[in-house]
Amino acid sequence: MLNFKVNEEKCIQCGKCVKDCPSQCISMEKGEFPTIINEDTCLRCQHCLAVCPTGAISIMGVNPDKSIDMKFEMPTAHSMETLIKGHRSTRNYSKKSVDTKTIRNLLEIASHAPTGGNSQSVHFTATMNDEVTDAFSKELFARVKNMLNESDPTTENPKIAYTRQAIKPYWENPADFMLRGAPHILIASAPKTAPEGKVDSVIALTNFELMAQSMGVGTVWNGFLTWALTDFFPDLAVQLGIPEDHEIGYCMCFGLPAVQYQRTVQRVPSKINLLESF
Ligand SMILES: Cc1cc2nc3c(=O)[nH]c(=O)nc-3n(C[C@H](O)[C@H](O)[C@H](O)COP(=O)(O)O)c2cc1C
Repeated sequence: MLNFKVNEEKCIQCGKCVKDCPSQCISMEKGEFPTIINEDTCLRCQHCLAVCPTGAISIMGVNPDKSIDMKFEMPTAHSMETLIKGHRSTRNYSKKSVDTKTIRNLLEIASHAPTGGNSQSVHFTATMNDEVTDAFSKELFARVKNMLNESDPTTENPKIAYTRQAIKPYWENPADFMLRGAPHILIASAPKTAPEGKVDSVIALTNFELMAQSMGVGTVWNGFLTWALTDFFPDLAVQLGIPEDHEIGYCMCFGLPAVQYQRTVQRVPSKINLLESF
C-alpha cells in the first residue's frame, strides 16, 4: 500500500509531482488534486514528496515535515571539491574506537545512497570496537598463514600470489597489512537477488567514506579483506553475521586517523571522451 496522501489545504496543484514521477504513477486532472494511477510501477523513491513546493504530499506514511529542508543547507562547490580531492586513504589509526552514535549516524547517512531500482537493500556489517576487530584479525591471520603454507607458490591463483607478496613486509605485524591497524571494519553486502547489489554496496561505501571524512573519521577500502571474505574464507563472512544469501560488495576499514594531511595530492589528468556529435 502506497498510502499516498495529499494535504488539500497545502497543495497548489502545480503538477510537479506528476512531472517528476519516474514511473508515471501520478495523475492530476484539471482542477483536481494528484492521485496515484499506477501503484504497481511505483519505485517508492519519494520524489513526489521531495519535489512538492508546499510539503503537501505524504507517501508510505512518510511525514514531509521530518525531511531535511533543502533551501538553506548545501555545501559549496569549493567545500565539495576539497572533500573529494582532500580525502586520503587512512592507514594510521588511533586505537580509540569511534563512538557508537557516530557509527550509527554515518551508516544511516550512507544508506541514503542511490540503489538500482531503488531496492535500498544494502546491509552493513561493522565491528564496533578494537577488541572485536583484534579478535577477528587474529583469526584472519591464522587462516592466511595456513593458506599460504598450504598453497604452492608455483601454481597458486593470482590473488593468493598477490597476498603472499604484499604481506611479506608485515609478517610480524600482520594486522597492519590486513586491516591497516584500524579499530573497525565495515562490510557492505546486498541480497544476491537485488538488481545491482554489488554496485549499490560500493556506492553506499563511497558515501560513507566522504561523510566520515567530513566528521574527522578516516577510512580505507580493503581489497584484501574483500578477497578474504569472498574468495578465501567465505565461512568467515558467515561468522561475521553477513546473511548467506548476500553478495559482498566491498570491505572498508575505518577509525580516528593518527595522521593529518596538509594538502591535496595531484592525480594524472582525467581520461575523457567528449562527444560533440554522433
Ligand atoms: C577498490 C579499492 C581497493 C583498495 N584496497 C586497498 C587495500 O586492500 N589496502 C590498502 O591499504 N589500500 C587499498 N585501497 C586504497 C588505494 O590504495 C588508494 O585509494 C590509492 O592508493 C590512492 O590513495 P588515496 O586514497 O589516499 O588518494 C583500495 C582502494 C580501492 C578503490
